[in-house]
Amino acid sequence: MNPTLTTMIPRTIHGPDEIFIDLRGLRKRFGSQQVLDGIDLQIKHGETICLIGPSGEGKTVTMKHVIGLIHPDEGDVYVAGMHVNVLKERQMAAVRQKVSMLFQGAALFDYLTVEENVAFPLLERGLKDKAEVKRRVMAALEAVDLDEHAHKYPTNLSGGMKKRTGIARAIIDRSECILYDEPNSGLDPIGSDIIDQMIQRMQKRYGVTSIVVTHDMRSVFKIATRVAMLYRGKIHFLGTPEELRNSPDKLVQDFINGRSDVTC
Ligand SMILES: Nc1ncnc2c1ncn2[C@@H]1O[C@H](COP(=O)(O)OP(=O)(O)OP(=O)(O)O)[C@@H](O)[C@H]1O
Ligand SMILES: [Mg+2]
Repeated sequence: MNPTLTTMIPRTIHGPDEIFIDLRGLRKRFGSQQVLDGIDLQIKHGETICLIGPSGEGKTVTMKHVIGLIHPDEGDVYVAGMHVNVLKERQMAAVRQKVSMLFQGAALFDYLTVEENVAFPLLERGLKDKAEVKRRVMAALEAVDLDEHAHKYPTNLSGGMKKRTGIARAIIDRSECILYDEPNSGLDPIGSDIIDQMIQRMQKRYGVTSIVVTHDMRSVFKIATRVAMLYRGKIHFLGTPEELRNSPDKLVQDFINGRSDVTC
């Protein structure tokens, strides 16, 4: 087998119908604001779910529940069978090794090069074999077509390259799942298309399960296996892109066609 692939393949092999992320009855309130009001969502291994919905409806908050950065007031979060919301902080490492989150804005360290940024999770985990780190960093950078830019600092990268560096950092530790929070925002249509291709490549090459928060409907129809629309704290719509397109629901049609009364 190609050594690059051996390096990057997730360590667990899953059946196609296995549920990887299971959100059950999630409720979350901040002060008097009920942000999540009963979220139920099951995501199978290898799926690419696009999470859509108006700004401020709780898309980022939902993703943060998956990696235990936010705990629900009610309900349960399971990732690969692990009951995330009852784990102690020191037990969260097992979840965070399986699931990486690409935050809104990529969140790179400006004082580290691309190569050092991507190596960060391995070094943080105590991997000391320099040759092994280098080999895995280059494989991850190659997967996002950035191997020729390893020496650059984030300030000298385009917005799309920064986001691809974030993707390389997410897959470096063999994550089985990547949560992408608005990976296309701020990119021109071509840059955005490249990110979509990367998301698809991660799925096809490494069987990565993905949740992609996006406001870009073109991207939704291109990459999603299913789409979940969040509205008023609940999953208002769940279905394939085809079902989304043909949905008779006025709220769904207003949202996907950019008609503004959806937020009224
Ligand atoms: N830690 C927090 N404390 C208080 N309120 C919060 C916190 N995190 C999120 N919120 C609130 O929860 C709501 C949902 O936020 P969230 O970031 O999930 O929205 P979103 O759907 O991702 O929006 P956007 O599309 O603009 O990114 C917002 O009103 C936000 O202010
Ligand atoms: Mg958000």
